[in-house]
Parts: sequence; C-alpha cells; structure tokens
Amino acid sequence: MNYDKKTIRDIDVSGKRILLRCDFNVPHDKKTGEIHDATRIVASLPTIRYLLDRGASVIITSHMGRPHGVWKPENSLYSARDHLEKLLGIPVPMTTDVLGPDTKAKCAALRPGQVMLIENLRFCLEEEKNDPNFAKELASLADIFVFDAFGCAHRAHASTAGVADYLPAVAGFLVEKELAFLGKALDEPKRPLVAILGGAKVSDKIGVIKSLLQKADTIIIGGGMSYTFQVARGGKIGTSLLDEGNIEFARNMIAKAEELGVKLLLPMDTQVTKEFSGDAEPTLVPSTAIPDDCMGMDIGPKTIQLFTDAIRGAGTVIWNGPMGVFEFPAFSKGSNAIAQALAGLDGAVTIVGGGDSVSAVEKTGYADKISHISTGGGAALEFLEGLVLPGIACLADR
Ligand code: 3PG
Repeated sequence: MNYDKKTIRDIDVSGKRILLRCDFNVPHDKKTGEIHDATRIVASLPTIRYLLDRGASVIITSHMGRPHGVWKPENSLYSARDHLEKLLGIPVPMTTDVLGPDTKAKCAALRPGQVMLIENLRFCLEEEKNDPNFAKELASLADIFVFDAFGCAHRAHASTAGVADYLPAVAGFLVEKELAFLGKALDEPKRPLVAILGGAKVSDKIGVIKSLLQKADTIIIGGGMSYTFQVARGGKIGTSLLDEGNIEFARNMIAKAEELGVKLLLPMDTQVTKEFSGDAEPTLVPSTAIPDDCMGMDIGPKTIQLFTDAIRGAGTVIWNGPMGVFEFPAFSKGSNAIAQALAGLDGAVTIVGGGDSVSAVEKTGYADKISHISTGGGAALEFLEGLVLPGIACLADR
C-alpha cells in the first residue's frame, strides 16, 4: 500500500466545505458520559484548527461504539462534542439526526471558520454497509473529504472510504503522522528493529507475527499469548491462557524465526497465582514449568532483564500488547518495565500501538517519552500486518 498520500497541506482548503472524518470513539462512562481518555479528540485538534484558521467550514463525522443501527443514548457523541468545544473554545453545534432535516439545517447555517458535528453515523446501518447512496448523501454536504480517523482506517464504511468515490480525498495531520511513523518503522526502520508483542490471544496477532518475522531483528513475545508459545516448545503452563488452535502456528513461527535469523524471545520466569485476582499472592516459577493449578499473571524479573537488555540496543521499537494482567497493579510490573525501557532509549524511534499497551504506557507516566503513540488499535495491527487499509487506500496519492 502506498502511504505517500496528499494531505490538507497539498490542497487549497480556504473557503471550502470540508467533510472531516475523525475517530471520536473514546472510552467513556456509559451513564454519565464522562470521557476516560480523550487522546483521540486531542489528536484531531491540529487538523481542525488548521482548517478553521484557513476559513474552511468543517463538518465532522465520527462513530461511537457499535450501536448497529439502534439509537442508544450511551452511543451518542454528545460528550465528545462537549469535550471538543472546551478544547477549541468555540461552539460546536451537533445534529440531533444523521442526514435528516436537522443535519441539513445545521450544514446550511455553517459559515467559513465554523465547525459542527454530525451525530454517531453508526445509528444508521447504511454507514457500516458502506451504502453508496448514504455515502453520496454524506459527500453532498461538502467539497472535500479529509480523513483523519486512523483508528478506523481498517473499516470500509461509508464515512471512511465510500465518500471518497464522490469527493477529492486527502489525509489530515493525525493520519499523516501515523503513516509517517508506522510506515517508516516497517519499510526503512533504524535498526535493530525490535517488535514487542503481548496481549491475550495469539489469534489476534497471527498476521502481525508473520509480517514482523520478515522485518524485525528481534521479536519479544510476552503476555497471555506467550503461553501458547511455551506449550509449542514443550512447556507446561498450568491453567494459563492457551490458544489450542494455534499451538502448531506458534511452533512454526519459532522454527521460521530460527531459519530467518530473527531472535525470538519468550519469557523465562513468570509470576503465577491460583486465582485470577489482583490480590492473590504470586509465586515466581520458570515459564515452562507452571504448576498444574496455577496461571501466569505477569513476567518475572529474569524475563524483564532479558527483554529490557534486548530493547536497550534498539534503533526502532514497536510495542503492541501488555506483558501481563496490567489492570491489576500487582501484575503491571512487566508492562511498566517495558514502558520504562522504551522511555529510556536515546535516539531510538519508539512506537506504541493498540489500546491496552497505550493504556499501560499512559498509566506509567512515560507517554511523553515515546516517539509515537498510535491512536489505532485494530487499525495499527492491520497496518503492521501489511494489509490494505480502506480509509488510507481511498486517499489521493501525492
Ligand atoms: C477503535 O476503537 O478501534 C476504532 O474506533 C474502530 O472501532 P470499531 O472496531 O468498532 O470499528
């Protein structure tokens, strides 16, 4: 996929009506609407401000959650709108419908230098179906389509890809930055390239592991998915997470890494407990000899040493997925140590992608020492897998 896409800098936006797709799908309290993490809204500001400063009229679209065509208050974009208003310091009118009379009226009233938000597009089933008529109607509101929703670049929906059939389509600054960091890390990384993969399921990461085996110098595997790899190399993992269907895959990947000369590092020691609880007293055991009645909760100190030594010499590090059950403070030591190791690198490019590893980094307070924290979860994974992302592919090449 070509990542060299035209951006809002390459076109004249002044006085134009812009349909701007943002990803305001932010974690929030379903009852009070309180936003827990506004990173994606904050990351959209440079594009919105640039467009407004040049006298464009900005019609923002987004989704919130997965209501699948059902109008539910917890999926409204109201709290995102309120947050955006505070950040911008100007009113952001929001529609009470999607492409109905209120949308038409608010769009008609929108003047240059003003911004508005359309209610959650996923209240209409046509959005996810990428219905051409729906896309055409959305497109009819504007002169130019700007895609700045990297988090849903892997979705071929009406607002992420369909509208590009009817309007000139370019990237916003958030997407430009994501493509620059992730694209460079994959295609011309400063070496050695160290990839750290964690999280619960091997099945979520199959494509990423395959793709990174061709590109990385070292692959570190921790977290829930590492237990399947331990079984693949003959280890005993007690009641730890096991992805039975992927033991053979893990075995093949271990062999492939050896064949390609890629260092594949797995945990050596593991903190285990008998119950899945943040208060359970952990025992430290070898990662390939977890007692039958215990489950792995976090990597141990020898593993932390092994992994951080491998990170120390890196030119580029890509991290996706926590090393343990980091939601429990007692089992967040492994993920914290990785975050600290990334933060301590001098002159290296460090990239963290995927919801859980981003939360892990943010909790440690090292986020500002990371070169790039991706706003994409599934989208970042699919990018690393080398898949074509419809939201990017539909944009004009430079
Ligand atoms: C995300 O949070 O990863 C994006 O907003 C995409 O959401 P989706 O997985 O519901 O399409």
